[in-house]
Amino acid sequence: MCGIVGILGQHEVAPTLVEALKRLEYRGYDSAGIATVNEGALDRRRAVGKLVNLSDLLVHEPLAGKSGIGHTRWATHGAPTLTNTHPHRAGRVAVVHNGIIENYRDLRSDLAKAGIAHQTETDTETVALLAQHHIDQGATPEEAARCTLARLEGAYALAFLFDGEQDLMIAARKGSPLAIGHGEDEVYVGSDAIALAPMTDRITYLEEGDCAVLTRSAIKITDADGQPVQREARTIRIDATRIDKAGHKHFMSKEIAEQPTVISETLAAYIANDASDINLPGDGVDFTKINRIVMASCGTAYYACLTAKYWFEQLAHLPVEVDFASEFRYRTPPVTEGTAALFVSQSGETADTLAALRYCEGKASSILAVTNVPESSIARESDLNMPIYAGAEIGVASTKAFTCQLTVLLLMALKAAHARGHLTGEELKVKLAALRGLPAIMNQAMGIEEAVRDVAVQLSHSRDALFLGRGVMFPLALEGALKLKEISYIHAEAYASGELKHGPIALIDENMPVIVMAPRDALFDKTVSNMQEVMARGGKVVLITDAAGAAEASDGVWHTIVLPDIDDVIAPILYALPVQYLAYHTAVAKGTDVDQPRNLAKSVTVE
Ligand code: F6R
Repeated sequence: MCGIVGILGQHEVAPTLVEALKRLEYRGYDSAGIATVNEGALDRRRAVGKLVNLSDLLVHEPLAGKSGIGHTRWATHGAPTLTNTHPHRAGRVAVVHNGIIENYRDLRSDLAKAGIAHQTETDTETVALLAQHHIDQGATPEEAARCTLARLEGAYALAFLFDGEQDLMIAARKGSPLAIGHGEDEVYVGSDAIALAPMTDRITYLEEGDCAVLTRSAIKITDADGQPVQREARTIRIDATRIDKAGHKHFMSKEIAEQPTVISETLAAYIANDASDINLPGDGVDFTKINRIVMASCGTAYYACLTAKYWFEQLAHLPVEVDFASEFRYRTPPVTEGTAALFVSQSGETADTLAALRYCEGKASSILAVTNVPESSIARESDLNMPIYAGAEIGVASTKAFTCQLTVLLLMALKAAHARGHLTGEELKVKLAALRGLPAIMNQAMGIEEAVRDVAVQLSHSRDALFLGRGVMFPLALEGALKLKEISYIHAEAYASGELKHGPIALIDENMPVIVMAPRDALFDKTVSNMQEVMARGGKVVLITDAAGAAEASDGVWHTIVLPDIDDVIAPILYALPVQYLAYHTAVAKGTDVDQPRNLAKSVTVE
């Protein structure tokens, strides 16, 4: 959601705050602002829209000071107007916030009774007003912050700055992540370590309920009970060079291109040197003691889970239930002994997924996570986190994280199949050899980009599109539709191709492009029959298949995209590529903001 940053520095902080916000802009880009303390005086600059508007403002109205906080907003309470833009200020207090203060209405009416009026529609202003109210009653800034935090319900990562205090920043975390960075006589806070990467790689992650009182020379952390605690400072490996576009026009294009490399790194982390076994981290998972898996995730990660359902059921004969985390958490589903609960999340911070995980605590036999951020809440709160090694994903639309999630999930399913006696050692070796060949095949498949671009240019004139797939290609069709709608704003739906005739076929006419995902596998003939039903009604089919499929079924098709041959089990990972390219080039043709599509944010830490 929103991104926050804070610096107690030795130099002017405004440019560094803006730089850090740039690295957090993926969390929201409705508006941005900074506040500094300069010679004791608190001041702020704010601008609606992308960060570049704030940068422009600072050229004309610079902000001096060596202490500062900054914010990039994904609007929750109140429209993205200047008044609602963070930092929020009340008297001596400035505050930036990521999360939602759930009891802000009650707090507002308490403040109103004390004659204190709000200027904004935000929940965050309440925090600033409360803190100032305590200061007015004689509290020190630290006391004021603590008293305020004690009254907040909901989720927050907060950073406070105070007029008259050059060497004080207070940071607190509950439900939203917050990292403290350690520098040379400097200290930083940030929503994630990526924001702080150019300044430091020494990071302390605050735990739930922690409050940190920061000066340049000392960091005092107390836990949820107000007791002083030591939190470990770790050296985090963030390759800062990987957080640029590396010559690509967009992060999304760079991240699509990175897939062979990051998948290869993911495979190398899990497959034993002699390529005969899969090493899961820690003590791994005893799949013989599990009789069911439940998975809950959101968006693209949910589609990764849906794909994995096919793998776990077909390969390992393990029943799997998959649910949207936002539904799962309120459905009170029975989670019993023998159940492994598995949560997939790129960010590791998605509020609904985290809540679903917490629901399973004490109920499931084991809680497993597949994340891209080993320090994230979901990774830390699971019994076993399986990292995906995708590297920082900045484009809001997930690409390389999806294929790396699929890679890890397939490795888990193969491990389970072997452990449960459904795959011999020799068969496992064959599958692992095929998987190790995936990065090379994906590299080769990148040759389709030009052909997909041509299709995309035509698709960009459409108002709607349908994606069809059968079996394990169905989740890929869902992912294709999600990618297209989120970055090109073309309305897209996906159906299991057998479902078409039960209703959606009524939508088909000559204006309806239908993207059919159909490798030449055991279900190919069935999918092609459904494709014929579309063509018989004038629908324009884009067939994504392999050479054998193209030879058999290209007649009458509008466009055929031909991918290299690949083992059926691995195909979903490869077939992510054409749908990513299709969405990307359609968005480019339409001129939309590919990396920061409207209304979206990368890390959804509110429900
Ligand atoms: C779509 C996309 C989102 C995320 C979803 C879950 O391209 O990226 O649908 O997949 O918000 O996020 P994580 O994986 O961070 O839990």
